[in-house]
Amino acid sequence: MTQTTALEIKPRPHGFAAEVRGIDLAASLDENTVTALRTALATHSVLSVPEQDLDPAALERFSAQVGAFGHDPYVAPMDGFEHVIEVIREARETAPIFGSLWHSDWSFQATPPSATVLFAAEVPPVGGDTVFADAYRAFESLSPTMQALLAQLNGVHTAAPAYGPKGLFARDDASRSMRIIVSPEAEQMEVHPLVRRHPLSGRRALYLNHVYTIGIEGMRADESKTLLDFLFRHMTQAAFVYRHRWQAGTLVMWDNRCVVHYADGGYEGHRRLMYRTTLAGERPRA
Ligand code: SIN
Repeated sequence: MTQTTALEIKPRPHGFAAEVRGIDLAASLDENTVTALRTALATHSVLSVPEQDLDPAALERFSAQVGAFGHDPYVAPMDGFEHVIEVIREARETAPIFGSLWHSDWSFQATPPSATVLFAAEVPPVGGDTVFADAYRAFESLSPTMQALLAQLNGVHTAAPAYGPKGLFARDDASRSMRIIVSPEAEQMEVHPLVRRHPLSGRRALYLNHVYTIGIEGMRADESKTLLDFLFRHMTQAAFVYRHRWQAGTLVMWDNRCVVHYADGGYEGHRRLMYRTTLAGERPRA
């Protein structure tokens, strides 16, 4: 049955991220509900929807209602679910946590995913939060002079530090449950504006991250490192951050065009299991 829903949207107190209730994401949603969800995501940048009953098939069905799927290059999908990856860490694992440094998903692609959808199937009793930073506010709080300088610049993005033959996952020989793919293709470079205008909200956000942004076009390495280090610190300061503490059965969606995030640890000895999809995006524009 198709579900029409009046979403209950409760913005988080500091004005970044919102909780959504009054919706069953396993149902078939009508166009008004899907539009309301898309609008809520464009307005609040991170949405959490608690008390959902989703398996990988239901997550895939829900995601397909919100947008076309993105392409997930360096993690093999779950068997039978072409668009779902399992973000899993068994209790015994010691390998680095997937996504544990600030990043925007797949920013090294020519058309990085607009949004990511993550569903908590099993959460540890402690730790395992996902932490988000608001890249709109990070840009808007800079001086007009710094904004004007950054608006002329392009960042250089690559997957090499994570998935290249010399990257983190190639060096790491601890056994891991996630189906990570290391490839020479990860060494390709892509250039995107350092300040990105969101196609729906019209607002400008910083577009750079610790993992994949390795330089600034036309600058020497020492110059771009100094500027990027300043911007990384600036954009992830506490005033711009929302820390999501998971409950099993919660789905979180975030907008990669205006948010950076990382997966926190602190749950050694416990299992954490999430299902993830990405939604297709467009080429970033200044
Ligand atoms: C990710 O970066 O997509 C993973 C986030 C998480 O596991 O909390």
